This record gives sequence, C-alpha cells and structure tokens, in this order.
Amino acid sequence: MQTTTDPTLTKPDQTRLLIEGGHALKGHLPVSGAKNSALALMAGSLLASGPSIIHNVPDLADIATLGRLLQSLGVGVQRVGGTLHIDPTQISSHCAPYEMVSQLRASFFILGPLLARLGQVQIPLPGGCAIGARPVDLHVRGLAALGAKVKIEGGIVEAQATRLQGAKVYLDYPSVGATETIMMAATLAQGETLIENAACEPEVVDLANFCISMGAKIQGAGTAQILIQGQKRLHGTEYSVIPDRVEAVTLLIAGAITNSVLTVGPIVLDHLSAPLTKLRDIGYRIEAVAADTLQISPGEFRQGVDLETLPFPGFPTDMQAQFVALLAIAEGTSVVTETVFENRLGHVAELRRMGADIRTRANIAIVQGVPQLSGAPVQATDLRASAALILAGLAAQGQTEVRGLQHLERGYQDLEGKLRNVGARLQRITLPG
Ligand code: UD1
Repeated sequence: MQTTTDPTLTKPDQTRLLIEGGHALKGHLPVSGAKNSALALMAGSLLASGPSIIHNVPDLADIATLGRLLQSLGVGVQRVGGTLHIDPTQISSHCAPYEMVSQLRASFFILGPLLARLGQVQIPLPGGCAIGARPVDLHVRGLAALGAKVKIEGGIVEAQATRLQGAKVYLDYPSVGATETIMMAATLAQGETLIENAACEPEVVDLANFCISMGAKIQGAGTAQILIQGQKRLHGTEYSVIPDRVEAVTLLIAGAITNSVLTVGPIVLDHLSAPLTKLRDIGYRIEAVAADTLQISPGEFRQGVDLETLPFPGFPTDMQAQFVALLAIAEGTSVVTETVFENRLGHVAELRRMGADIRTRANIAIVQGVPQLSGAPVQATDLRASAALILAGLAAQGQTEVRGLQHLERGYQDLEGKLRNVGARLQRITLPG
C-alpha cells in the first residue's frame, strides 16, 4: 500500500515534539476523515464481490497497518491521495497474521466480513491495550448466535459457517466494534438479523450507509435496534468517509485552551452535541459560521464542569483526555468519570508534571483548576492522551517536550502541521542514536 505514513520508519523513543506554549492561534483548522469509520469501512469492503473506492481516508499509521493486513490476505489495497482502492476479489487467505493484529485492535473487525465471505476465518485475539482489557466476547457471541462455530484456542479465534443464519442478537453493552462485526456478518446471512442494544455511534451509521451502498439492506443504524435482511452478495461501491468528530473536538479545544478565535471544519453538527454542550458550559462561544464549520471564541468566564463518558449520544470516551487538559486550567473543580474503559486516565499523571492539580480515584479524575500550566517533559500513554498533552503544551508557560509520538501518529493526520498553520510553535526533533 502506498502511503506517506509508515510507523516502521519512526523511531518512537528518539522522537520528541517540542511545544512553546502561550501563543494565541488564528485561522482555520481542517478536519480529516474519521479514523474509526475508515477502519470499519476497510473491513466492510471485504463483504463485496467487487472492488470499492473509499474517499476521505485519513493518512494514519492505523490505516496503513490495516491496509497491510488486508494485503497479506490477498486483497488489493492502493492509496492514491486521500482515496483507497480496495479489491477483495482475490482473497487468498482466511488467516490473519499475529504481528499485524497485535498492532491494531481494529484489525479484529475483519472477523465478521471474512467469515461471511469465505465461510471460515482464523484471527489472533487482539489482546489488551493501554486503556483497558478490551475483551471480544460480544463479537464472538454475536457470530455464534448467527450460527457460526467459534472456538478460541492458543490465542486464536477460529470461526466457521457454511452460511450464517439471521438471528436476534442482544448485546449486554452497546459495543461499537461488536455492533459493527455482527452488522457486517449479517449483511450476507440468510434471513433477518435484529441487533438489540446496538451502539448508536456515527461511525456505526457510516458503516451501515457504506454497506447499504454495496446493496445491503439495513434499517435503524443510529438507534439501539438495527435490522438487517441478509443478501446473497454485495457489490463494490464508491463512498466518502464522514469527518472525524474526535479530531474536530481536539482542534476546537486547541482554540479553547489558548483563548483563540478559530474555525474548524468540516464537521457534522449532530455528531458533536455532548462535547459542544460541555464547551459552552465551560464558557466558550461556539457558532456555526457555515453548515459544516464551527467558530470557537473565548467567553467571559472559564469554569469547571463535571462530565461522564458514555456510549453515543453521551460524552465520548475518546474526547475525555482532551477535556481534562482544558479543565486543568478552568476555574473551580471538575469531576470527570470514565465509564467506558477501565484504565483511561494515563494522561493525568503527565498533566500533573505540568502543574495540573488532579487527583484520581479508580475511574474518576477530580480536577482542581490552576491559573497556568508550565512546560515539562511528558510521555504520551495512548492516542488521545498524546493529543491532550499537546493541547496542554499549547497553553503552558515555557517548553513542553512530548514523547511517545507513535500514539499520535496512529490517529491524527499531521496534527503538528495543522496547528503550525494557525500559529502554534511546535517542532519535531529526532535525537541521534
Ligand atoms: C471503538 C473505537 C474507540 C472508542 C470505543 C468506544 C474503533 C476502532 N475504536 O472501540 O476509539 O473509544 O469504540 O466509543 O472504532 N467490550 C466488551 N466485550 C466486547 C467488546 C467490548 O466487554 O466484546 C467492552 C470494552 O471492554 C469497553 C466497552 O465494551 O469497556 C466499549 O468498547 P467498544 O465500544 O467495543 O469499543 P471498540 O469498538 O473497541
């Protein structure tokens, strides 16, 4: 796959991002295509009997990794600018290699499509990761409900089904990934599948729309009940990924945390209700200056707010770390409760190095706002933590040195370049050796 981002070229331990904080930003910040949507669509394209073209695909390490995984199965994957050409007509293997699946949890999402297309699949368990254990029991139980024989041995999930059969699948928790796995598999099953307590995230809706454009019959995506009428085959399609709502909010917070006036777009307003409500509650003015563009500007105050992460349309876990960075300099106390992942407060210890006053108790961060953060060397512990530390660095007095940039590259397309274009002072350095 031709791509400009290749994680194997990066020496994570040697690279640092230096940020000189305290500079106001001005201008427009462009939003790339949604990472989590693009990854799901890449997996979904395996359902079709012909090639698909996917536009607005962000140039990210995670996308490149999934592209290489698909290639290792015999799928044609080519990137031309922001467009991916995926040709699944010659899939030659149903066994996903461990090295690639272990790098990227989202690669597990090929389980459903490969099973539906080929009748068998072998894929290593993705394992834990920095933000929690992240089991896959809901994916596996959902496919078993559709009639697949699934066994897990030696860390490998092996599933078989001559043809999947539609069924009623109730999810104990509205897992995004499990909803996507079951929805994709059900598009090629015989008969009707009803997913109850389904995830309502915009990325699930985007995947459903993508599958519909391939000939799938899906109703109710975006609600807790998704109904799928299985088809004999799906055809290739041409489709464009939705804007990345997590990136959009990260960029809005870049404006908020530096007290700047910035525009951010393209966005889809309906995807952003919870975070925009919180930004307004903190004190920022946010106006739609076009149907798909928001302007953020400082208000009269900047006060703490409480927030709790929840499945959509609740406040997204993927925006929690960035908000904690902002709340660190808001007046008063904020209580932030992480309910989606059990271990997603790794950024707190690093923000403390920068002078933040934050205490944690289990999955709760109690943030006592301070007037000013100060630059320090900090270590990114996961993708969204890396964004939070960069945001904090933009506001801090003096120089912040962010390490662990391999996390950033997984999910933000050229964040440094975008921020530099609106006046941020950032510089990437690679130490010799
Ligand atoms: C997706 C997103 C991720 C986001 C998350 C929640 C992608 C590639 N990633 O991850 O950025 O933070 O949704 O919005 O789209 N769970 C189980 N059993 C399962 C599956 C999940 O117990 O079989 C639990 C998880 O451990 C977690 C919760 O469900 O506590 C939510 O996870 P899930 O919605 O599945 O997240 P992902 O799809 O992995």
